[in-house]
Amino acid sequence: MKIAIYGGTFDPPHLGHELFIKAFIEKYLPDKMIVIPTKIPPHKACETTGAADRLAMARLAFKGIAEVSDCEIRRKGKSYTVDTLEFFKRKYPDADIFFIIGSDMLLTFDEWRCPRRILELATVVAAPRRESAELVEEMRKKAKSITEAMGGKIEIMPLSPKEISSTEVREGAENSVSPAVLEYIEKKGLYNESAEIKKIKEVLSKRLSYKRYYHSLGVMNTAAELAARYGEDVERARLAGILHDCTKEYPAATHYEIIERYKVDVPKDELGVEKLLHSKTGAVMAKEEFGVTDKEILSAISCHTAGKENMTTFEKILFLADFIDPSRDYRGVEAIRKKAFRDLDEAIVDCTSFTVKDLAKRKKTIALNTLLCYNSAVRAVNAKRYLNEKEKDK
Ligand SMILES: [Fe+2]
Ligand SMILES: [Fe+2]
Repeated sequence: MKIAIYGGTFDPPHLGHELFIKAFIEKYLPDKMIVIPTKIPPHKACETTGAADRLAMARLAFKGIAEVSDCEIRRKGKSYTVDTLEFFKRKYPDADIFFIIGSDMLLTFDEWRCPRRILELATVVAAPRRESAELVEEMRKKAKSITEAMGGKIEIMPLSPKEISSTEVREGAENSVSPAVLEYIEKKGLYNESAEIKKIKEVLSKRLSYKRYYHSLGVMNTAAELAARYGEDVERARLAGILHDCTKEYPAATHYEIIERYKVDVPKDELGVEKLLHSKTGAVMAKEEFGVTDKEILSAISCHTAGKENMTTFEKILFLADFIDPSRDYRGVEAIRKKAFRDLDEAIVDCTSFTVKDLAKRKKTIALNTLLCYNSAVRAVNAKRYLNEKEKDK
């Protein structure tokens, strides 16, 4: 059995990818062609489109020509090629695995994690990214030096894949993606980011740690999805999401300095809880540094950690997006994720009771606002139940 594996960010998957896969199938005749959107590419500093959207787009783009696997997206932490190949070797122990890479990846092959093991697990097939005799020559030399040093087999695929880069597609080459992918992009509002968010991303991608920035992108995308579901403004939700943790990594002294300087009203019981301060200082900096004047965005940032009584739909969205973004993996998160798209208050009851129990178990302070938030969500759920039952009795 011959299995071919083609990984990439697919942000978005375009016709160049599709043509390439078809050409590969024609030449190598694999029994199974597997496309794998990566979760966190180790060579990339940051990611723009959420993993779930890239996975969904890949499924639309490659329907009928390849199987799309979510194995890297599901894996915790960074995803490495060697882990993926080990996974498929375990799944198909007798298969011959072909692993397809681009020319740029071949040229940095020795810097990858466990390159020798990769060559033991698969035949590497490298394809030039553009038509160039010089590039193919360079690739041949590189392949020779790698296999001489490490063994294994690297083949150069002699074809010129249609040259459409993902960047061009993002910048408006609509005809480069399939109609189904284009429909998905338009429906989800992907790739037409406002200049304001682009600028904020540029600043935060440098300021925040990789983990925190990745989480902020996840919250931004989740908040947008929830906003679309509950009829709130998607762009405002994205803005609140990307900014919500903008001061999270400031030292405690800086939080207190900001609170002092801007005379921020912080409830007494929250003042001593360092973890809660970034929501208050985050709202201040969203206004002072990033120029956000929308009062509801600022209040949603300000209460995103502790919550509060009677939150607006918009505030609830940010609060929940922070709790369920794709980087969260606590036990029970999947159920809360589903609930959040069904009923915001029910999901908030679950989140806040989880927080209260967890804090009590660790003997940590429970903010009064969290309890008020819990109580008002319970009240809202009960009121809806009462109305539903009354409706049934009619
Ligand atoms: Fe936060
Ligand atoms: Fe957060």
